[in-house]
Amino acid sequence: MKRRELLLRGASTGAVATLLPAFSPSTLAAPAPAFGPGMADGLPMPAPLPGPSPRLPETDPSRTLLERGWRFHEGEVPVPEPTDHNATYLSVKAGNARGAAALAFDDSDWQTVDLPHDWAIAQDVSENANVSQGYRPRGIGWYRRLLRLDESQKGRRLELHFDGIATHATIWINGSEVAHSWSGYSSVIVDLTPFARFGDEVNWIAVRVDAAAREGWWYEGAGLYRHVWLVSRPALSIETDGLYCDPVHQDDGTWHVPVEVSLSNVGEDTGQAEIAARLLDPEGREIHRTRGSAAVAPLEQAKVTAQLAPGAVKLWSPDSPVLYSVEVDLLHEGQVVDTRRQFIGFRTVRFDPARGMVLNGVETKLKGVCIHQDHTGVGTAIPDALALWRLQRLKAMGCNAIRMSHNAPAKEVLDWCDRLGFVVMGENRLFNPAPDYLAQLEWMVRRDRNHASIVLWSVFNEEPMQGTHAGVEMVRRMRKAVHRLDTQRPVTAAMNGSFYNPENVSTVVDVMGFNYYQGDYDKFHALHPDKPITSSEDTSAYETRGAFESIPAQQVITSFDKEAASWGATHRETWKMIAERPFVAGGFVWTGFDYHGEPTPYAWPSTSSFFGIMDLCGFPKTAFGIHSAHWRDDAPVIWLAPHWTWPEYERPGREGQTLEVFAITNAEAIELRLNGEVIERVPAAHRIMGHTFQVPYRPGRIEALALRGGKVVARAVHETVGAPVALRLTPARQALASDGEDVQAITVDCVDARGRHVPTANLPVEFAISGGHIIGLGNGNPNDHASEKGSKRALFNGLAQVIVQGDASGQRLTLEASAGGLRSARLSLARAPRKPRAQVPVVPAEMAITDWRRSALFPQKPDPALAPVDGDNNSWDFVRPGVAAPAGSAGWRSYRTRFTPWKKVAAEGGTLHFAGIAGAAEIWLDGKLAARKTDAAPAALTAAIPPGPGPRTLAVLVAATEGNPSGLVGRVYVTP
Ligand code: GAL
Repeated sequence: MKRRELLLRGASTGAVATLLPAFSPSTLAAPAPAFGPGMADGLPMPAPLPGPSPRLPETDPSRTLLERGWRFHEGEVPVPEPTDHNATYLSVKAGNARGAAALAFDDSDWQTVDLPHDWAIAQDVSENANVSQGYRPRGIGWYRRLLRLDESQKGRRLELHFDGIATHATIWINGSEVAHSWSGYSSVIVDLTPFARFGDEVNWIAVRVDAAAREGWWYEGAGLYRHVWLVSRPALSIETDGLYCDPVHQDDGTWHVPVEVSLSNVGEDTGQAEIAARLLDPEGREIHRTRGSAAVAPLEQAKVTAQLAPGAVKLWSPDSPVLYSVEVDLLHEGQVVDTRRQFIGFRTVRFDPARGMVLNGVETKLKGVCIHQDHTGVGTAIPDALALWRLQRLKAMGCNAIRMSHNAPAKEVLDWCDRLGFVVMGENRLFNPAPDYLAQLEWMVRRDRNHASIVLWSVFNEEPMQGTHAGVEMVRRMRKAVHRLDTQRPVTAAMNGSFYNPENVSTVVDVMGFNYYQGDYDKFHALHPDKPITSSEDTSAYETRGAFESIPAQQVITSFDKEAASWGATHRETWKMIAERPFVAGGFVWTGFDYHGEPTPYAWPSTSSFFGIMDLCGFPKTAFGIHSAHWRDDAPVIWLAPHWTWPEYERPGREGQTLEVFAITNAEAIELRLNGEVIERVPAAHRIMGHTFQVPYRPGRIEALALRGGKVVARAVHETVGAPVALRLTPARQALASDGEDVQAITVDCVDARGRHVPTANLPVEFAISGGHIIGLGNGNPNDHASEKGSKRALFNGLAQVIVQGDASGQRLTLEASAGGLRSARLSLARAPRKPRAQVPVVPAEMAITDWRRSALFPQKPDPALAPVDGDNNSWDFVRPGVAAPAGSAGWRSYRTRFTPWKKVAAEGGTLHFAGIAGAAEIWLDGKLAARKTDAAPAALTAAIPPGPGPRTLAVLVAATEGNPSGLVGRVYVTP
């Protein structure tokens, strides 16, 4: 396809009304909350944040969510083999998909679901299912959705965006196969334009999801698990991901923002695109504008480039994530007809072989984590607000970097990373430079290359070919593909060995990524002093949250940071290796959160991982305290483990035993006190290793004081609490938006008679909700097989989580928790008014009868039994209703079809609707006259369908009058 490059000149004209809502600056930059045991009541979770979860500003007003009212069927829907020649002939024609992809398929007994949807997380775990995928059966699933498009949409560019389908997928529109997806982590963008039907005619979308396909060795979910959008743009419009505006820092110290706008035209005439590009400061005020134009021929694309000059800017960094934005308007006759908004940040990033990552001129250690995308209760179907909350949990720990392992994340995750202040290693899923796979890498770079957060592209993770000639050739091609699209960010690969092979990929990447192999940092650096190095993955330590003793028989692992995979090391040992080496840019702990699947070092009955700094719910393990002490410089940190409830009545008592007590701080010294008595003061507490004390257990109050300059700057406290007497519910935020989308995680625990958190409680809890629904539950126990859906969950080592979504009523959401013998808890969450985002309306189902054969014109009324013989594809036309037979001589035509009524119609009977028949007509259903129309003028007609099984034969005899069009001029459909 021909592409044209035009340079816009920096002319400026009057303002135009943009299609986007006014931009209000983000309020996300709230200080990371204080945390940890030591909160007055012992709950190891932060106090609720104010207000509802913020919502990301709209960046593309041509998108509308298409997430309500999908029909879903779990399992394969076999496609019947065609039985005769004609059916075979027709089965391979456009629009004629069979089985569940067929327009007339009966999905009336399928479930109705809203997206995002992960069907695997609702499955019971099964020992026979795949261990790496969390023992959850996945298999095949089908989705269908009816879509009505207004006549006004005709001539516009229409797209469907599936942001992520796990794992492989085939998509049909109106019975035509329109897309295949080979990756569960790439968007599928379907050009609906040529297939679309308008007005009364409906459109059927069918998606077959093959989640038996695996792309990972972790839990990948199943289904339409990210957002789905209907996109409607003018015929001449800005392409999807068609705005590239990554700021460039020039040698003279000034900044400029090169803007490249990709346009395409699906119209019939050459269009003149008028473009206005504006640069807005963090408060949304325009600071520069430029305009230009390009002519785009029909079915062609064009590129327009321009420069925006920001002048002096505020720099973006993890500590100060200041975002500017570029808005590009496309104008037609002075009116804005298409718009995109892109948030950008001004920052310089360089990976230096001696100094590590240099961000805005300052050495900045990557204090990073690797993450997978799933969460308890919802699997991979993560609502935007939950994605934000997870990132806020990381931020609260002082984490400044995330590796999206091992795949592209949802776009919203990166938007939040820009706003919260994380630098991100974007990572490609499959190591393969063949065209289908290179397209996935290119899609990721094109979508994400404007993000301030993205600082590094990783083309693979741990590939056995990394030390071979072929591996080198593959990486060369993939690196080149990245640099064709993004000249600014370096390419890395996460290697686990083969670094010294004569041919290995470290020679062809910009930054060397070490997965583990920490003992090789120095040797590699000595051999390659000019190669920047980062740890792309490290640690792989194991902890069970709330457990302080390993019990192998029960598959429980102490969270004293003592156990790690043979290829990894403890949290502290790992960070020590990185922190002590300025030439190592930093590290990415495996992992920030536990995830479903990969329950290393165990297998069944463990079903989720032990690697997380936080558990599956985002509850902190000791590792959270350790990394907070390592990474936070903004506030004093002290962490103390274990809890102090070990009395006789709870478990085999510990009275008199010497217990191991661990404390870590970023201050200068730790003083440990038991019941007010100083046990020990450690003058120069080791910031990385912390300190282990031996303390004879006595019930009461254990306290660790963090000291700086002899003054107490922070304290962590545990008390020996009594038996649980009441449940407690603590929300993540003080309110929930009334948009029907906002969600939040509610922490469930129980308290003793004095209102203190009981860390040892493991009792079952039941929930009841009004004003919303529970979308998932969990407790972080990798060995708990209870369903993550429903309304029950047991506390695990004192904690459980319920994720609630409010409805759109605006009524307060009320969650009640009850457990035998305890006082119930009731949480009433205020609703903050917020309009729901627009959703494509749900259309009531109807069965369209679209495929007809039409006879030649006979002088006499033909016999209704007259039919083409099998294999005759030439003497009867193939026609679709809605188009009249051309005017000509008088006579009769027969229209014939067969259809199988939906189950409800077969059981109870239904109605056949002809929206318009031109000419007198007779309707013959299964050889019987079912309705008649005597008037020649076009009119609607209905006929009753008696109940009965199997396919029906329908013949419509239509009289043509001399010189007038005739036939089935409107759609034909069946309703129950
Ligand atoms: C790494 C791998 C990760 C995860 C981890 C567990 O080798 O990159 O995906 O499997 O091991 O330790």
